[in-house]
Amino acid sequence: MIKLQNNYEGNINIYPLFKNELAIDDFQSILNTLINKDLFKGDKNTLHHISTHQGSELKHHIFVGLGDSLDMEVLRNGIANACKKAAALKENSVGIILPTQLINADALENIATAITLSQYSFNKYQSKKKDMMIEDFIIVASVPDLNTYQTNIDEGILLGEMTILSRELANEPGDIINPETLAISAKSLGESSGFKVDIFDKAAITGLRMNAFLAVAQGSSYEPRLIVMEYMGNVGGEVIGLVGKGITFDSGGLSIKPANSMLTMQGDMSGAASVIAAMGAIASKKLKVNVVAVVAACDNSVSGNSYRPNDIVTSRSGKSIFITNTDAEGRLTLIDALDYILTEKHVDKVVDMATLTGAAEVALGQKIAAVITNNDEFMCDLKLAAADTGERVWELPHDEDFMKLIETPYADLNNSGGRFAGTITAGLFLGSVVGDTPWLHIDIAGPSWTEEADGYFSKGATGYGTRLLYKLVKNSIKINEGI
Ligand code: BES
Ligand code: ZN
Ligand code: ZN
Repeated sequence: MIKLQNNYEGNINIYPLFKNELAIDDFQSILNTLINKDLFKGDKNTLHHISTHQGSELKHHIFVGLGDSLDMEVLRNGIANACKKAAALKENSVGIILPTQLINADALENIATAITLSQYSFNKYQSKKKDMMIEDFIIVASVPDLNTYQTNIDEGILLGEMTILSRELANEPGDIINPETLAISAKSLGESSGFKVDIFDKAAITGLRMNAFLAVAQGSSYEPRLIVMEYMGNVGGEVIGLVGKGITFDSGGLSIKPANSMLTMQGDMSGAASVIAAMGAIASKKLKVNVVAVVAACDNSVSGNSYRPNDIVTSRSGKSIFITNTDAEGRLTLIDALDYILTEKHVDKVVDMATLTGAAEVALGQKIAAVITNNDEFMCDLKLAAADTGERVWELPHDEDFMKLIETPYADLNNSGGRFAGTITAGLFLGSVVGDTPWLHIDIAGPSWTEEADGYFSKGATGYGTRLLYKLVKNSIKINEGI
């Protein structure tokens, strides 16, 4: 439980502190000693823990450095690291004593998200779990009108929980989260948070002529599912489309991946996971927006029935595609999902999120997603949302020139463009069915996964995109109302 209170009497105190305001009401002398001994100065991304005796009680004091001024990413990471530390101290509750600079809507929302995320790790299959003892996190703020912040705390918790859901879906092995169980997860989230979910099976997908999607799916004993989610909170208003890459395991197909590259490929549905989780947050908060989300879920597997290099498939849009490499499967499922959402659901704008290319990770590393867009304004909206959530984005060029790289004499498009500009050619491949509809393609191959359990991250899937998509959609209300 995360509670907001005026005071706290317990054994673990967390003190987030700014460098220029190293002051704690009842605890100044010890803090001064730490400062004088250069052990803690409030520098960002620093943490210092001391234990004292009071009567028979052991008291813990965790100092969290926030640097010179309020930076939400530093705050999220500092709070999460302190809460992780606290969880190892075998107490039931912890107090987080806020300086006045942190008593505002934005900071409180982010603190609640950070606390929530700090307690997650993917350890359900481990018999001996490291005990997480903390039951109550008490956020202590000495102001009279505390209740006004409860909605911010609730929103922060919700975003933390939905990010955890996204992580959990992407961490689960490929036989646990397969196309069918991914669809069922979306359905049950829809039921609990209030959005509609339609699930189409292989026969229905065949009826929809999604042949590029079906080609990827055909090698697996798991049948594909098309998951269509709808939340209408502003009937008559614009409709935003979200599309998530939902490959529940990417072996590479016949163009098989090397063993090491295959190891995290149960997470090749991270885009889908974040789209589904964002829908959960959007519907739970009853945002005044309309969102349709689509996931073409399948398993890219190897069998006698797999699609082959040199196959030529006709996508739903009518464009024929020459298969150079069966490991460039994401764009085949996405080109059909995008065509479906545009022609059947008539969305006004569309965002796709996908672990699409290793090249994105090579170009921008593991913290920043690559973006291709046909609309500068939409890109600006995305940057604003990203600044808010710390989920970083970087735009790559979408010049039509790059289309040359995915030309082939045998069909309208080549599914792989070779060595150069791999992230851009993958994006342009998708853009070829989007036309003028404002579109953002977010390649999350880098930031969807981390090996380090630092700050509000846990080892494994990061849930990248859950909060970003939620904020992008939420901010569209202000933009449409001209605020
Ligand atoms: N799922 C992978 C991309 C990926 C790589 C995601 C690393 C996360 C981490 C995608 O389907 C893929 O294999 N892409 C190929 C494309 C190539 C064959 C044109 C790649 O990036 O090598
Ligand atoms: Zn692949
Ligand atoms: Zn893939």
